Amino acid sequence: MVRLLDVCKVYENGTPALSGINLKIDDGEFVFLVGSSASGKSTIVKIITSEIAMTSGRGIVNGYNLNRLKSSKVPEFRRTLGVVFQDFRLIDKKTVYENVAFAMRAVGAPPRVIKKRVMYVLELVGLDHKLKCLPDELSGGERQRVAIARAIVNNPSMIIADEPTGNLDPRMSVEIMSLLEKINECGTTVLVVTHEKELVNEFSKRVITIDEGRIISDRTGGYSQDETI
Ligand SMILES: Nc1ncnc2c1ncn2[C@@H]1O[C@H](COP(=O)(O)OP(=O)(O)OP(=O)(O)O)[C@@H](O)[C@H]1O
Ligand SMILES: [Mg+2]
Repeated sequence: MVRLLDVCKVYENGTPALSGINLKIDDGEFVFLVGSSASGKSTIVKIITSEIAMTSGRGIVNGYNLNRLKSSKVPEFRRTLGVVFQDFRLIDKKTVYENVAFAMRAVGAPPRVIKKRVMYVLELVGLDHKLKCLPDELSGGERQRVAIARAIVNNPSMIIADEPTGNLDPRMSVEIMSLLEKINECGTTVLVVTHEKELVNEFSKRVITIDEGRIISDRTGGYSQDETI
């Protein structure tokens, strides 16, 4: 869950990025966040993940108060989130299996649990036949599916994907969105940032539009005709 109340962000160099953002995402929702370049989408994501601090306002994410989050609590908080990036961010020298298993070792899971869970999530994303491949032996869509497997392996309550299909062709993009939809149907909250209007309109989901740091629309079922982003 996300609650942002009157959130503003002015970057350290004086650039205003967000003003008066009020945002409520409940557990189990699937939400698209759309808007033109530089409208503030990634800034919202970074505030939600506590990568950057807001300038003013209040925020609660998965029960953690962003305004009072101690640095000692940040790792525990981050484990409630799975983050997926446009450029995949896989480890080039590790196999598909190892890229995903690594995320579980990092949180101290026992080896037997790791094996079972990694196999399960790789099957879920349809890559159980590519366990031993290295990232550069995969297509872009397959790499993104590894990144999604890694993001969900520790069972986060929410997945946040910032332009997850930015480097993929339209068919692959639909596949990735369908996979995120499937993950959402299993109970995980999903927030997807995207530029791709046509892609969003293929899915009948809640769509939040941001422009120049403000939310200008929040509706379910795609864009309206008069919105141009
Ligand atoms: N670290 C930073 N320091 C200063 N200004 C920044 C920083 N990061 C982003 N900005 C500025 O904040 C505004 C919002 O940027 P943001 O990255 O949130 O946009 P975006 O909607 O994600 O754009 P895109 O679709 O291109 O990824 C822009 O004007 C940008 O130049
Ligand atoms: Mg961005």
